[in-house]
Amino acid sequence: MSADLSSGLNATVATPAPVSDSGLSAAPEPVPAAGHEPSPETAPSHATTGAQEPPAIEVRGLRRVYKVKPKPVVALDGIDLDVASGEFFGLLGPNGAGKTTLIKILTTLLLPSEGTAKVFGFDVEHETAQIRRIMNMVAGGEQSGYGILVVREQLWMFTQFYGMSNKDGWRRTDELIEAVGLQEQKHQRVSTLSTGQRQKMNLARGLLNDPWILFLDEPTLGLDVAAARSMRELIVEWKAAVPGRTVLLTTHYMAEADELCERIAIVDHGKILAIGSPEALKRRVQRESIFRVELDQLEGGAAMLSKLPGVVSASAAAGAEGSEVSDRQVVVINLVLEDDSALGDVVGALAARGSQILGLRKSEPTLEDVFVELVGRGFEEGEPSEQVTG
Ligand SMILES: Nc1ncnc2c1ncn2[C@@H]1O[C@H](COP(=O)(O)OP(=O)(O)O)[C@@H](O)[C@H]1O
Ligand SMILES: [Mg+2]
Repeated sequence: MSADLSSGLNATVATPAPVSDSGLSAAPEPVPAAGHEPSPETAPSHATTGAQEPPAIEVRGLRRVYKVKPKPVVALDGIDLDVASGEFFGLLGPNGAGKTTLIKILTTLLLPSEGTAKVFGFDVEHETAQIRRIMNMVAGGEQSGYGILVVREQLWMFTQFYGMSNKDGWRRTDELIEAVGLQEQKHQRVSTLSTGQRQKMNLARGLLNDPWILFLDEPTLGLDVAAARSMRELIVEWKAAVPGRTVLLTTHYMAEADELCERIAIVDHGKILAIGSPEALKRRVQRESIFRVELDQLEGGAAMLSKLPGVVSASAAAGAEGSEVSDRQVVVINLVLEDDSALGDVVGALAARGSQILGLRKSEPTLEDVFVELVGRGFEEGEPSEQVTG
């Protein structure tokens, strides 16, 4: 991690819990916050008094109906959600699940039809100004910005929306350009940036007011693997630089939610189906032991194995049987056992038939397995995977 990155992501304007001793908080002087630091009377009480802090997000009975023809669309159908200050929380669900609608309500862009939502104790209907000061949002696939401006002008312009002075605006702009690694592009027109570079600029824009909570709506949508990884690293680094920073991320990429989020809510059709850490969610579906066995050959086929005690099922892995791996024939079997102890008998039976075990790996359940169990269908089934809704 570069010093540039840490100082840029760490130059705090107003944070829920300023610290001086984190290895990353080397910012020598706080960035002046004229006009966009929550004033004492609007800041959550904990920020000034150390009193018990409100949760970052508190949602109760939230419904949102879009009144469209021929019939209204229920985008959120009774959501209850608590996210603690400092959490990295994920909303995982297929396209159309209601993720963007929820983010729009929390960022005060859309009113609830029913129910309440609070951000750091501020009500989304009645305390919009306070919320806007302490949060920011970055959405994937955003064509944001003015193509004719160069990166540096574009970001500076946003500092002016936050009421920073001319000088502080430039300083904050340059800090963040460095932090997200856009030094080489800073004099380039926004319209000429690659998708990954534009998304880095959008992230820098989202950090200009040093938000307490950052809403990320599919931030890696449409990015290639390397650019997506780079975005995720920047997000994690920004979050880690100051304790108390909170992230609410939506994604339909299960691996991304698994990698980044401390807790995840799985959403579908406007409802939360399950909430928990990725590990806890995956444990729900791990009732049996699943192994993947690679053999040089298997006399009698997988059917032979499924007759052994403790074996729930044995089947040739899809498309793998007889496939050639580094010049040798390999048979790949997916083995579902009642528990790990049945493995001994299987290994014995294979040896007795002259099969050589070339590889053996326990398969861990994925969030996809969790989703299938909850919803009864695959995650992407029937959903165009790259379509942006909302
Ligand atoms: N402005 C709108 N007007 C009508 N329906 C909408 C609007 N925005 C979203 N929807 C519908 O609401 C549902 C939830 O959409 P959205 O919140 O964008 O889901 P997600 O972000 O999870 O893909 C979908 O059925 C979508 O078609
Ligand atoms: Mg969306």
